[in-house]
Amino acid sequence: MTQFPITKTSCPKPKPDPNTLVFGKTFTDHMFLMDYTDGKGWHDGRIAPYGPLSLDPSAMVFHYAQEVFEGMKAYRTPDGGVQLFRPMENVKRMNVSCGRMCIPALPEEEALSAIVALTKLEADWVPSAPGTSLYLRPFVIATTPALGVHAASNYIFAVICCPVGAYYAEGINPIRIFVENEDVRAVKGGTGFSKCGGNYAASIRASARAEEQGYAQVLWLDGVHRKYIEEVGSTNIFFQLDGAVVTPVLNGSVLPGITRKSCLELLRNWGVPVEERLVSVEEIFKAGKNGALDEAFGSGTAAVISPVGEMCWKDTHITINGGKIGATTQRLYDTLTGIQWGILPDPYGWTLRVL
Ligand code: COI
Repeated sequence: MTQFPITKTSCPKPKPDPNTLVFGKTFTDHMFLMDYTDGKGWHDGRIAPYGPLSLDPSAMVFHYAQEVFEGMKAYRTPDGGVQLFRPMENVKRMNVSCGRMCIPALPEEEALSAIVALTKLEADWVPSAPGTSLYLRPFVIATTPALGVHAASNYIFAVICCPVGAYYAEGINPIRIFVENEDVRAVKGGTGFSKCGGNYAASIRASARAEEQGYAQVLWLDGVHRKYIEEVGSTNIFFQLDGAVVTPVLNGSVLPGITRKSCLELLRNWGVPVEERLVSVEEIFKAGKNGALDEAFGSGTAAVISPVGEMCWKDTHITINGGKIGATTQRLYDTLTGIQWGILPDPYGWTLRVL
């Protein structure tokens, strides 16, 4: 593991009440920073007090959104330890995103060391109340002060952390989702498979419209035919159809979720038939009407496993499993969170103990 210099804050903040944590509003005392300069590569990894970054107004990230990010969590185990879940998967995915956005790849072992070092330093911020964790947000931004549309020559890799509770106000209760028909999130050849801020910026309008109508999230359809289901605003999506668990195939415009991958691995291990394939919205609504749609759930780091109780597409509404969480969804939730929080054994070697 690479060691980094640490400058500690002179004024540590009070910790928030672990029982009233919301997602992404409170940040810890420190952050990790590392610079990139053309010709020199990634250099000067360090931990510094959490605080504003000073950037030139012409920094390229502000104009052309040359940026990528990740989401991962540190969990408090029953014996008071702290562990991460598949952190190298996030580092590797971040480099895939960097590749798409013409950002120089991070040295993977060093990036993992940075995440571990920051988590260790902020260990007191990892909450222990049920369902809570420390969310880590690694990101890279282009900082070169220049207005031409080219890859930047300078970047910052940063990691910030926030103690979090449930991502959705609904918690583990089923959410309502709205199938978006006007805006599209991604097309093949675009940036859908990468975790870049622009994908999410473009999604906000549809999410805001859905929220106004009482839906927690939108369900994105493919950008060409508006026919095939891709993903939900902040999660991948799964359906249980006549016993088989079906999820949209990673075709270039769907985010390769680490929770998605973990669900598939668990389901295959349990002997549940799984299918990664094209899933049309028509197929799902037909199954919803004729009783063949047993369950639906989203999967993501922030949202974990999020049951879907109701879906609306144009003027058609379907209720799934009577609006209640289904047995497969519950089993996945219990197993994943059990492994993540160290309550269940981890036969897959997914967790990395940092303390
Ligand atoms: C995550 O699940 O960690 C995400 O990044 C999704 C969302 C908060 C943008």
